[in-house]
Amino acid sequence: MENSYIINGGQPLHGQVKLSGAKNVALKVIIASLMIEGGAILQNIPRINDVFELLNLIKVLGGQAEFKEEENTVAVDGGNINKNEVDLLYASKIRVSFMFFAPLLKKFGSCRIPNPGGCRIGARPIDRIVDGIKALGVSVRYKHDTGYYQAEMTGKPRGKFVFGKPSHTGTELLILMSVFGEGMIRLENCAREPEIKDMIDFLNAAGAKIRQNASTIEITGVDKLRCLQPFTITADRNEAVTYASLAIATKGEAVVSSIPERMIRSFIIKLQAANGGYEKINETTFRFFYKGELKATNIETEPHPGFMTDWQPNWAVLMTQATGVSLITERVFENRFAYVEELRKLGAEIEFVKPPVTNPAEYFFFNFDPAKKYNQAVRIKGPVKLHGGALNITDLRAGATLAIGALVAEGESVVNGASILERGYENFVEKVRSIGGEIERI
Ligand code: EPU
Repeated sequence: MENSYIINGGQPLHGQVKLSGAKNVALKVIIASLMIEGGAILQNIPRINDVFELLNLIKVLGGQAEFKEEENTVAVDGGNINKNEVDLLYASKIRVSFMFFAPLLKKFGSCRIPNPGGCRIGARPIDRIVDGIKALGVSVRYKHDTGYYQAEMTGKPRGKFVFGKPSHTGTELLILMSVFGEGMIRLENCAREPEIKDMIDFLNAAGAKIRQNASTIEITGVDKLRCLQPFTITADRNEAVTYASLAIATKGEAVVSSIPERMIRSFIIKLQAANGGYEKINETTFRFFYKGELKATNIETEPHPGFMTDWQPNWAVLMTQATGVSLITERVFENRFAYVEELRKLGAEIEFVKPPVTNPAEYFFFNFDPAKKYNQAVRIKGPVKLHGGALNITDLRAGATLAIGALVAEGESVVNGASILERGYENFVEKVRSIGGEIERI
């Protein structure tokens, strides 16, 4: 038995958790660095599997990507990239591989990129994104026989694109495509996740001209980018929410720092409604604590500034400990409840329900197909005393959720698939132990 956590749960966890750099900023800024003359030095890069996969992909293309372990620093330089095709092996492992359209088209004017992989939390097509790339004047064809996209660009990207529905990584890719564009490129109905602003800040510091105004982004093309100073990746808001949920679900407390409140506001609002303890220590440091009986509280996931989809699996464990019946509705991805079966093994009372939605094609952010059956909502009854069990991690955020469930549960649990969780959480075992959790990696 390998690639598992052995967890002995049932104890309140207490302490301070040092948050790592945000995965979903680090990955994009590493790719953006490939478009910077002379490369970039990036600080506070999390030591997680997704980062290592990405760095390997860059090296396979001929670029430089060195991770300095002791400093969590990465030096990236795309100057020597000599291949315009992304390897299927890496594309199958990391979803952001399709963002290579931007640096490869800039350098070679053409590229071949496979359909991306990543967490299996939905079909995750890239149709909107491909439409956006085409709107900027690039020819993109999908070859069904090979599974590759073939793209060609003559001249500079130009034009305008309006997203039918927002896409987080799609917005980031179109920004990257546009930084060297002709004149001003306008993107509308863009996603507004704070990670996008971080990437914009990085590019603007290197000389890009990007203006973000709510869901509209205007990019005026420049000839080159230069990064004069190291760039520091902000703390991971998903990690903050995971440790906050863990602390409160075990009836303990956790202090997290370096996280601006605006990044986790929608979580804090729901937490307060659920009678979860929350104290602001300073602008970026917060104490989350159990202050008494939790109240069942409904959530619906939405793009930013709504309640984030990545947090709903964690919320589900919290609700198993809350009094009453809560409803969780997932609007962003169509397969984000794979953890439900697993939590049931710990004794959780969760059942799928049909949300009363009148216009699903508008309400859901994935491409809704009326001919398909979807499981988009669950009802959770609490509080329930969870017990140990043998669990299987299916996707990254479900991984943290099952670990939280096992740490709440009385007795021993085995959680299989640790490497999936480690795609996105740095030093998970050490951090959980530092607040008193009994967890071992085998
Ligand atoms: N979608 C389409 N077509 C497209 C693009 C998106 O149908 O062309 C659908 C998606 O399948 C999904 C919805 O639109 O149902 C929203 O997808 P979006 O593109 O916004 O999400 P993403 O960029 O694939 C990123 C994060 C996710 C995070 C979401 C929401 C990265 C690498 N991934 O995904 O993070 O949940 O935004 O904020 O940034 C994670 O870290 O575990 C994770 C899944």
